Amino acid sequence: MIKHNYCTIIESEEKKKRGQVLNYEKFTIQDLTPFPLYGILARMIKPLQIANRSFPNNIILGPLAGISTTPYRLLAWEYSKPAFSYSEMISASALVRNSRQTQKRYLDRSPNEGPVCFQLVGSIPKELAEATKIVADSGADLIDFNCGCSVPKIHNNGCGSALLKDRVKLYNILNTIRKNTTLPFLVKIRVAINDDKTNEEVAKVITDAGADCVVVHGRNWGETFNTPCRLEAIKFFVGLMKIPVIGNGDVKCIDSLKNMFATGCNGAMISRACVGQPWLIGKLIADINQQSCILPTSQEIGEIFISHIKQLAKLLENERMAVLQARKLAKSYARTIPNRKDFSNQINICDDLPAFTSLCRNYFL
Ligand SMILES: Cc1cc2nc3c(=O)[nH]c(=O)nc-3n(C[C@H](O)[C@H](O)[C@H](O)COP(=O)(O)O)c2cc1C
Repeated sequence: MIKHNYCTIIESEEKKKRGQVLNYEKFTIQDLTPFPLYGILARMIKPLQIANRSFPNNIILGPLAGISTTPYRLLAWEYSKPAFSYSEMISASALVRNSRQTQKRYLDRSPNEGPVCFQLVGSIPKELAEATKIVADSGADLIDFNCGCSVPKIHNNGCGSALLKDRVKLYNILNTIRKNTTLPFLVKIRVAINDDKTNEEVAKVITDAGADCVVVHGRNWGETFNTPCRLEAIKFFVGLMKIPVIGNGDVKCIDSLKNMFATGCNGAMISRACVGQPWLIGKLIADINQQSCILPTSQEIGEIFISHIKQLAKLLENERMAVLQARKLAKSYARTIPNRKDFSNQINICDDLPAFTSLCRNYFL
């Protein structure tokens, strides 16, 4: 008899009354029979093992620079319980320079959140060695090295996706990180298009350097989000690699999740679609497992947004910066309110926390 750990949703009557969303509890089932109808779909959500760590499900909250701070991750954990969550990318150079601001924001981690994968970005092995130790000492559960970022200030600096072109340098860096941590070590990459040789070489370097898992964002470094995620390229890596492959790109609903899992990947990462809806991963897991899931009311979404920004103000020790961040998040949180454009316009001219709070309470009814 196979034993599997699953996450399920326990909806207490009290929570239902208050219209709150999800509350999870881990439990053990003896086999896969609870999901006979959704056979194939249900088997998509399964435990994930990366090196010596096991996770009860295989959906990961992806990294978003400027967004994936502790308050954001805490909300995702409260409402979704992803396998683990990513930090924002952290510059190894800034970290080893010991900038207090960098350390405070990027190394923050709450005891109340689930497992966190700290993501490093850089190109100098000595700095990355030191940065690896710093994030491990700060409570990282996993460490990822960013080889996917295509933003010009990163790419043109020889970091992120630029490293995929220089496989010798890439090997040296990955090998250095590997030697400096026993934590599960992931590498997040983009793909080469119609160039199996490059993809094979990248896969070999990652394996030879001893990484435990690869996250494949199915786009090329030169492509924008207008180009659909290349699922066939993710499938190619799945076929090549012995370590777990996590597929990433354009997952936002059951259908896109199903398409991602059709590549054979061991797990799926969701980044943009979780912004403003921290319950998304929980809802997808619940839907697949044919469990009911109560979504927050509009009023509750407003309160979630307020709580996010208040926590951010505390973390940044700067209310104004948090409200500026709220401007970027407003459209995402306001997805379901009828006058979302109006709301976003108002938030764009609001610059203190009390005004932000009352705007939310006026619009999320
Ligand atoms: C605003 C923004 C910030 C991002 N920051 C990071 C980052 O810090 N590290 C990283 O590896 N990818 C970053 N990404 C890429 C995403 O994690 C993800 O790979 C990409 O958005 C595709 O997945 P999605 O369709 O689920 O969003 C970022 C993307 C966006 C739009």
